[in-house]
Amino acid sequence: MPQATTIAELRDHVGQTVTLSGWLYNSRSSGKLLFLLVRDGTGLCQCVLEKTENNRDVFETTKRLGQESALEVDGTVRADERATGGFELSASAVRVVHACEGYPITPKMHGPEFLMKHRHLWLRSQRQWAIMRIRSTLVDAIRSYYNERGYILIDTPIFVSGAGEETQTLFPVDYFGDTAYLTQTGQLHVETACMAHRKVYCFGPTFRAEKSKTRRHLTEFWMVEPEIAYADLNDVMAVAEDFVYEITQRVLRDRRSELKTLGRDVSALEKVQKPFERLTYSEAAELLHSDRARNLLEKDLATAQDRASALRTEIDEKEAQRSAPGAKKWKVEKLAQEIAAAREGLADCEEQVRNLPQHMELAANFTWGSDLGGSDETIIARLHERPVFVTHYPREVKAFYMKRNADDPRLANAFDLLAPEGYGEIIGGSQREDDYDALLERIRADGLDPTNYDWYLDLRRYGSVPHGGFGLGVERTVAWVCGLKHIRETIPFARLMGRIYT
Ligand code: 4AD
Ligand code: MG
Repeated sequence: MPQATTIAELRDHVGQTVTLSGWLYNSRSSGKLLFLLVRDGTGLCQCVLEKTENNRDVFETTKRLGQESALEVDGTVRADERATGGFELSASAVRVVHACEGYPITPKMHGPEFLMKHRHLWLRSQRQWAIMRIRSTLVDAIRSYYNERGYILIDTPIFVSGAGEETQTLFPVDYFGDTAYLTQTGQLHVETACMAHRKVYCFGPTFRAEKSKTRRHLTEFWMVEPEIAYADLNDVMAVAEDFVYEITQRVLRDRRSELKTLGRDVSALEKVQKPFERLTYSEAAELLHSDRARNLLEKDLATAQDRASALRTEIDEKEAQRSAPGAKKWKVEKLAQEIAAAREGLADCEEQVRNLPQHMELAANFTWGSDLGGSDETIIARLHERPVFVTHYPREVKAFYMKRNADDPRLANAFDLLAPEGYGEIIGGSQREDDYDALLERIRADGLDPTNYDWYLDLRRYGSVPHGGFGLGVERTVAWVCGLKHIRETIPFARLMGRIYT
């Protein structure tokens, strides 16, 4: 038997005969040749099997194999720049491990509902494969960042007794007759460990019963939360800036080909350079009222309208070609796919045409004191090339634990980091309220029960120091780095309002 290897390692075996084991991604035949596109988990490789006197049976069996049949292929490795992945296998033998038929996800277009219902299989598709690899690298970069800089990993609980963020988004759980909640954040617990270790972080799943069906909200998402003692708002923001820069650099370095598979414009990611942009909340409010903001949206609207009408024409023309008498079968199939893609694009444009006037109105009428909405964040971020820090929000729109600003008590020493290209908030952070009385007042003002927070208040009773930290949402970051329209593809099994199956 030839040496077993993987597609990722083919470069070390050029000219040799090897065995690949994988699954059939696609196949086509032309007379005496069978082109098998095989995936093995590490990549894709075309294996070409030639029909000979001796392999007639194998050739015929292989030709009939359905998509996703499991197989082993022996063959000689050829370097070929034009080939998917850069190598091709001249196959000499094929062994079937598991033949199957009727795989639900075919190379044609499927709608998101169908794909999400088949998420357990969809993970095998090229784009999803690329996204999960980028996610894995990002998570590794996140852990390395803190581990290499002396932060101690603290695993915080998932069952908690009280809110860490807004009470409206708590998931209650029956806890032996009492009500507990799924944690919204590890922050309050990680703050305790911060006083033990100085620099700490937690990294785990967090839960929000968000009754919103936006492209940015999950009910279960992963968050990394560093916390630093003897740090003020600026210290914390400096860490956030360096951290986001480093993790994007890592993806650019290690996941170029996956970004290419996704069609990601890497030049946009390459623009993530320090220093990031900084705006106060008040400046952000002014920006929303500015001509620059209005012009941007008016231009977007005109572009969406033009694009929508171009797509409508394209669809009409292709529909006509498709139903023309005598159209070839392959041509009809190709047209059907193109029409489906155009329809998807059209739906996007139409959604924009519906939403943009509302976004314009929200921005123009933005009043100081309200929170920035998703569309406001998009506008602010799109008016900058680098990630943007928005700082010093009004206290009232932010969480109880944030430090009151010493110069202007209406403000909190808080920040959000907005990703470029309109992806919105990826980080929320702040300096923490370290004064016992001020914190107790905020807990009461938010209608929280102080007895649930007595342990948290202890941190302000015993050796209280300025400290702060932030939380970065993994899925929002993956969506931005990969350039995905919807957050549902950023996590293996998305939990959304109304979605829990698979
Ligand atoms: O701004 P948030 O709510 O901040 C906190 O939870 C703080 N306790 C963090 C801290 O200071 N230690 O959430 C932080 C980040 C957001 O910026 C966003 O990236 C992500 O978590 N996030 C969500 N991601 C997906 N779906 C949701 N429903 C999310 N809610 C927040
Ligand atoms: Mg936030």
